[in-house]
Order: sequence, then structure tokens, then C-alpha cells
Amino acid sequence: MKVDGVAYRTIWPVEDGAVVEIIDQTLLPHEFKVIQLKTLEDAAEAISVMRVRGAPLIGATAAYGVALAMAQGASDDDFDNAYDTLLATRPTAINLKWALDEARTALMPLAVPERHAAALTLAARICDEDSDNCHSVGKHGANIIAEIHEAKGKQGPVNVLTHCNAGWLATVDWGTALAPVYVAHEAGIPVHVWVDETRPRNQGASLSAWELGQHGVPHTVIVDNVGGHLMQHGMVDLCITGTDRTAANGDVCNKIGTYLKALAAHDNDIPFYVGLPFSTIDWTIKDGVRDIPIEQRDATEVTEMTGRTSSGEIATVSIVAEGSPAANYAFDVTPARLVTGLITERGVAEASTEGLLGLYPERR
Ligand code: MRU
Repeated sequence: MKVDGVAYRTIWPVEDGAVVEIIDQTLLPHEFKVIQLKTLEDAAEAISVMRVRGAPLIGATAAYGVALAMAQGASDDDFDNAYDTLLATRPTAINLKWALDEARTALMPLAVPERHAAALTLAARICDEDSDNCHSVGKHGANIIAEIHEAKGKQGPVNVLTHCNAGWLATVDWGTALAPVYVAHEAGIPVHVWVDETRPRNQGASLSAWELGQHGVPHTVIVDNVGGHLMQHGMVDLCITGTDRTAANGDVCNKIGTYLKALAAHDNDIPFYVGLPFSTIDWTIKDGVRDIPIEQRDATEVTEMTGRTSSGEIATVSIVAEGSPAANYAFDVTPARLVTGLITERGVAEASTEGLLGLYPERR
């Protein structure tokens, strides 16, 4: 996808893989800055503090983190240390463990001197496949947007409500929830996106709005509690979100607040779709509501807000009375019964065990 007209991915190797470059997402939308990861610790820090974030991009960064580690030392112990260090960074997005398991499978049978090159090859493959898969999610999802456009008699734009950032910044390229929007927009279907600001980290206001703006997609930022009102008044045609972990039964875990949007959509008969590549499915979890681990982050993300002042400085201010405790649950789980369909790289599945197995029969 493009930044000021220049095509970018969110992560790429330079200097023959000795260095990996990323876009520091903690600085957006005020500053577009590419930074370098040179060590395993750099990669782990980037994931932990959310310089990179979004389930597929977390997985891709972990794959490159292993490659950076293998450049320093590639013994079994070195690999285990890299695996454990990266796995500990964030607990909810399953793409992290998926990518690390891919690395274990690819590297462990190899002789130590071969592991660094193999890790780089694997990370590049994970990135290429993620980009292709997200593009396919976009094509399948754009068909849904086109159908709604037809059903509206081609009158006005299709109004999509999204939560958090599941755009190209959350993946290697294209995005999951926003990929259908980009494909539809490129096909000339008029689309307008309601962007939930997504407190506390504001990935909607800071990231989704920025990337939609870069691509000329009409959008409006709203605070997190507006969606229900818009839905009651016919101002939302469909919701599309991403997911950090999809259980085998079709339950989807995504950014905190997604569940409330799904409830409101259900109450108003508005389709609620979720976009995902296969790497986000955790086939070991049969009941997502019960068993998906929910990340809890530092309370200061709730008690403080960061933004740019009128004089152009980036400032952090406190918004809670001193001494008030705050809780920071980063994700929630939307039960499958509230999900109209799962938009995957293979097509759209019913959110259920049978629906997923229909698209991924090799998992039976
Ligand atoms: O905490 P974040 O910013 O990593 O959370 C990201 C999300 O919740 C996304 O919606 C999810 O990763 C799906 S991304 C394609």
C-alpha cells in the first residue's frame, strides 16, 4: 500500500537480512518514520511496545526476530531463547506462536550454519504469503460490499464500520478488515468507513484514519460509543473487523470493544463480518470465549493520552484523577453466533466449526 504515493510494506529486510526495517507505528499519524531492528531484543521490544502491532504483522516480525537471533548464534539453545523471548511479548495474537512454530519446524532439522539463511527465507515467505492472503481476503470481502451496493440500488456509498486497525499497517500489506474496502475502492465502488477511535491506544483514530486518508478512501472518525447510534439510524451497512485469534468454533478475539459492536449489529440486523488469514485460526481452542487468553496492558494506557499540541509538540497528558486505579483489558471475544461470516483467503465461511472445516478440510 502507499504512503505519499510510494508503495510500502510494513516490514522488510535490508543489508542482506542483517537489518530489518519497520514503520514505527507509535509515532503515527504525526510522524512517518522507518526504524531499524538489528537484534532479537529490538524485535521483541518493537512488538511489546507496539511499534509493530496487528496479529499478522506481529507474526511476521517474530519470524524476522528469529532470523536476527540466528545471525548471532543458531544453536538449539539460541533458538529456544529466541522462541521464548518473542513468545513472551504479547499473549493474544496467535500469529506470533504460529510464526515461531513455523520457524521451529523449518530450522531445527537443519545444521547450525544453515539456520540463519533458512530463517531469512522463511520470514520472507511468511511476508509474501501474508500479503497474498490478505489481498485474497480483500477480493472476497469486496464481493460482499459490491452485493450491498447493488442491494442499495447503487445509491450512495456503502457504509462500513470498523474497529481498531485491521488495515495494511496491521499486516504485511493490504490488511484484513480494510482489505475489502481497498479492493472495492479500487474497483470504483463507493465506500465510506466509520472508524472507531479505539481507546485506549487509538489504533482507529491514529492508524486506520491515516491509512484510509493515504488511499483517498472517504472515512469519518467516531468515538467508540457512537456505533450503536449509527446502526439504529440506518447509517451502517455492514461491520468488518479483524481478529487476533479465531477459535475452531468460530469465536473471534479482537480489540476490546469489538464484542459490543457485534451486539449492536445483531440487534439492528446489520451484517458483522470478520476478515482473517488462516494464520489467525487457533485450531486447538474449541471455545474462544472461555479459553483465549486476554492481554492486560499497563494502566497508564488508560489514564493518559498522547497527542500533538497546537504548537506541534507531542505531549502526554493525564486524564484520570490521581490515585484512581484503571484496568486495561486489550481484547474481547465475540461469540460465533454474532458473526455473519469469516472472510478468509479461501472464501467466506460460516463462523462455526463446520464452516471453518469446510474451507480448511485438511484440518478435519
Ligand atoms: O493491540 P493491537 O493493535 O495489536 O490489536 C490489533 C487488532 O485488534 C486487530 O484488529 C487484529 O490484530 C486484526 S489485524 C489484521
